[in-house]
Amino acid sequence: MCPVLSIISGTHGIECNMNDTLSQSKSIDKSIFDKVIEREHTGSLKWDKYAGKDVLPMWVADMDFAIAEPIHKALVERLAHPIFGYTKQSDAFKAAICDHLKKEYNWAIDADWLVFIPGVVTGLAVSCRAFCEDNDKVMVNPPIYHHFYDSHEGKRQSLTKVPLHKVDERWTYDFERMKAACGKDLSMIMMCTPHNPTGTVFTREELAQVGEMCAQNNMTIISDEIHCDLVIDGKSQHVPTAVACPEQADRIVTLMSASKTWNLAGLNASFAVISNPELREKFTQAAQSIVAPTPPLAMVATEAALTQGGPWRKALLEYLLDNYKIIEEELESIPGLKLEPLQATYLAWIDATELGLKNTAEYFEQHGVGLSSGEQFGQPHYVRLNFACPASVLRDGLSRIRNAVASL
Ligand SMILES: Cc1ncc(COP(=O)(O)O)c(C=O)c1O
Repeated sequence: MCPVLSIISGTHGIECNMNDTLSQSKSIDKSIFDKVIEREHTGSLKWDKYAGKDVLPMWVADMDFAIAEPIHKALVERLAHPIFGYTKQSDAFKAAICDHLKKEYNWAIDADWLVFIPGVVTGLAVSCRAFCEDNDKVMVNPPIYHHFYDSHEGKRQSLTKVPLHKVDERWTYDFERMKAACGKDLSMIMMCTPHNPTGTVFTREELAQVGEMCAQNNMTIISDEIHCDLVIDGKSQHVPTAVACPEQADRIVTLMSASKTWNLAGLNASFAVISNPELREKFTQAAQSIVAPTPPLAMVATEAALTQGGPWRKALLEYLLDNYKIIEEELESIPGLKLEPLQATYLAWIDATELGLKNTAEYFEQHGVGLSSGEQFGQPHYVRLNFACPASVLRDGLSRIRNAVASL
């Protein structure tokens, strides 16, 4: 049993010992993430997909870990009040975001720059509606998180796809092709940094080059940084695009959330940081009457994550790196699968081209492991494996993969 969180696993969720308060400075033993928690019958998208089947879900990007104790505590405290009316973002909530960005990324933002949205995908969709004219084009760089392909208005805008390429075994921007694709109708780029699914953390120089290209071509930059707090390799450093190219800050909309790092995706709290008042107004107008405000529980959870979730996050990053190393070790002796190097996220990007399968993810699903198909990201012969789960579960998944390959 972990020292700070006593979890009763089962179909009715979790209970915490609320007397066990955790001080902000106290470090957390990463072994808390070894705990296997039953998620079936909790309405989990990830687990219910395979309800009643012997298929281990390792697909959609949420984690099989209990939330940090301070977040749970804050939620329980808020639940003690029985009214959940329309909610205004508190000054403390906004300050938590500003302080986090300053502390982690040396990014000094003004609380007025924040616009609250339920999800980062909503932010992508609102951006297309706010900043694009009829017949405009939006650049995206495959492979990329599948909602980059479907958040624009199909009848008004189209996508210009310029694939990433590999340099020294790392996926990055192909600036020559990107610049060649620029033209008068290409008005916006949607970036994903750190990058899902390749796990690349773009460097300050790479981001500055994107900024320069966009300045030369008068493009708006939408920077999805939802994975920013999940750099796991211990070496790389996430730099917000607006920090990497401050002279282009006026054309940048940054989309963020605590949801990936602190496992709060179902609570719906994300935010956009927009320093340019004109862009901010356009974004707010496009969201008007369509986009719901931040729910009260989401606000409470996000504030607790950002102000008290540091030690938990530190332990998480260590655990995720250990898990990545397990995958590395295992895949070395599974022929036909090549693991891509990873700097951030808990999503392993695996090249299965050599297996020569028509539908790789489907094949693995038939052999008991539910991976994301590379096809949805734009690379059909790849699969994506979500390794944010207890190591024992990960080993089970890898052994299913091994058996599946052995059966070919
Ligand atoms: C790059 C990226 N953006 C956005 C999302 C989803 O964000 P939200 O649930 O806040 O809409 C994900 C989820 O995996 C993601 O990987």
